[in-house]
Amino acid sequence: MPTPLPALAFGGDYNPEQWPREAHVEDRELMRESGVDLVTLGVFSWAWLQPGPDQWDFAWLDEQMDDLHAAGIKVDLATATASPPPWLTQRHPEMLPITHDGRTLSPGGRQAFCPSSPIYREHALALCTALAERYHDHPALALWHVSNELGCHNARCYCDVSAAAFRDWLRARYDDDVAHLNDAWGTAFWSQRYDDFAQVLPPRVAPTHANPTQQLDFLRFSSDQLLDNFVVERDVLHRISPGVPVTTNFMVMRQTMEMDYLRWGRELDVVSNDHYVIAGEEGSHRELAFSADLTRGTAGGRPWLLMEHSTSAVNWQPRNRAKKPGEMIRNSLAHVAHGADAVLYFQWRASRAGAEKFHSGLLPHAGTDTRQWREVVELSRLLDSVEEVSGSTARNEAAILFDYEAWWGCELDSHPSIDVRYRDRAEDLHRALSAQGVGVDVVHPSADLSSYKLVVVPTLYLVSDEAAAAVAAAAEAGATVVVTYFSGIVDEHDHIRLGGYPGAFRDLLGVRTTEFLPLLEGESVRVEGLGDAAVGADTWAEDLELAGASAVATYVDGPAAGLPAVTRREVGSGSAWYVATRLDPAGTDRLVEHLVAESGVEQLPGAGADVEVTRRVGDAASWLFVINHGGAPAAVPVHGHDLVTGRDVAGDLEVAAGGVAVVREA
Ligand code: GLA
Repeated sequence: MPTPLPALAFGGDYNPEQWPREAHVEDRELMRESGVDLVTLGVFSWAWLQPGPDQWDFAWLDEQMDDLHAAGIKVDLATATASPPPWLTQRHPEMLPITHDGRTLSPGGRQAFCPSSPIYREHALALCTALAERYHDHPALALWHVSNELGCHNARCYCDVSAAAFRDWLRARYDDDVAHLNDAWGTAFWSQRYDDFAQVLPPRVAPTHANPTQQLDFLRFSSDQLLDNFVVERDVLHRISPGVPVTTNFMVMRQTMEMDYLRWGRELDVVSNDHYVIAGEEGSHRELAFSADLTRGTAGGRPWLLMEHSTSAVNWQPRNRAKKPGEMIRNSLAHVAHGADAVLYFQWRASRAGAEKFHSGLLPHAGTDTRQWREVVELSRLLDSVEEVSGSTARNEAAILFDYEAWWGCELDSHPSIDVRYRDRAEDLHRALSAQGVGVDVVHPSADLSSYKLVVVPTLYLVSDEAAAAVAAAAEAGATVVVTYFSGIVDEHDHIRLGGYPGAFRDLLGVRTTEFLPLLEGESVRVEGLGDAAVGADTWAEDLELAGASAVATYVDGPAAGLPAVTRREVGSGSAWYVATRLDPAGTDRLVEHLVAESGVEQLPGAGADVEVTRRVGDAASWLFVINHGGAPAAVPVHGHDLVTGRDVAGDLEVAAGGVAVVREA
């Protein structure tokens, strides 16, 4: 029978079909040497498994499954449906995706299919079924891996099949009544009124801005279609292979916004995520930390699997910087620190051919006599020594609200400023909180907020009445709430909430903004009142009146000179702060000092700008993770047992520059 996932699994994508048999023997030897205990098999092997419409070839996969099992390695078996084989698209070119400007995307890369294509789905389900029937009781099987990064290259398709599916989706959303759609889309504007759903199209390239609600609904529809592709395969797997968990790998990272993963997470038996740092970005580990906390949010707080990241460079960014010595270990452990129960990579062996031949792997082109391989082995040993954290998770007193729909709405065209980016404030507030030792949960606005002392609402442009009420209730009940600019502006239909900005939060915050005053590119202003010195701000300012709140900080100059930039209002037994501009990092640090002091959230010991400290909590123990991203040793006043060094610590842990520690707390 299939067996459970290894605790703190280590391994990665394994593509043996790219290599001759001799390499497979070496693979298993080196997997053993490096402690690999889980591999993802078959992700892009559709063309190998089904070489023609009625031809199947499982022999090579049978052999791999058996050999891996004999070597003690578990398998995360892909349903292999991510990339249709050439014979299928040759027979059915109508399943190819079409872009918003009408270009058909050809096969030759990967993922060339329309997510709404019934032909694709029929063939994908046949393959999924065949694999489930063949391997459901294989002893190597530990996890099913549906498709791969659904929507990675084909998230939005504008073909006629998609258009018809979009209309069906709209009929369901708007009670089959086109008048409801007209209201929701505001089609009185620009003569867009529809008398029949049959007239409605996806937002294909138009002479000018497409209707924003049409765009928003198309994003919702596209995310739902992709999720449906997961759900239908999952249901086959649950039926034929009960008891084996099913996942699909998310792409929770700054670069990816198309899939509403906070909704998707509920459909998965276990969430898994792929994360790639932004090469060359100063402090890229901060984006990693935010994404990892958001991934835990998609998993409803439960442990999740890091399905892919890279040992070093990728091949798809403009300049693919290699990781510095020690950086891979810090990156990998940081995911564990934020709740991952597996550390997996793309991919086991760096390819010698194909579009990803310059992508790093666990086993580099240069072989095992390399610093990279030695670090892989070192990391694997380190993970063995901290294995006891598996199954535990983080429980924090601060929450950042995050919503993919708000992201989509916020970054639509025809807005006051293209410089307002959805993740920008969330990431900077997360950075400042982390630097002050505050652990953060990143959760959907519909989450239960009752246990949080601090609730951060960054750029929540689109918000439902219920979510706005829940935020207000959290403040009433004693939380410190902070809302940043361009929040609460529209409802679910992207209609402005009237009466002054920020509509949904105006009463809670006790402010009323009559006009946005966005700043020009390169323009900055000064804000005083958050500390001894004035701080800088850019991007945004507002013509804001106090309506119950008091001013905490004021613009010194710029278009809002003399007006409040940061406000605070006492609400019930809590408070509500508003930040009407984009504070620079020093300004955000000052703001967060106030919020931390007022809310009384716990600050973990030893944290700093470059020292990441998080806690995982289990049934009987808790562990403090310390990751020193800086160039100087870090002093951490913690008592317990450091699993990395095997030494007891009594309030005087020193973590070397670039080093890590995992302390089971006394
Ligand atoms: C994604 C894919 C992998 C591989 C990596 C490269 O995560 O899932 O197949 O292409 O990117 O970084």
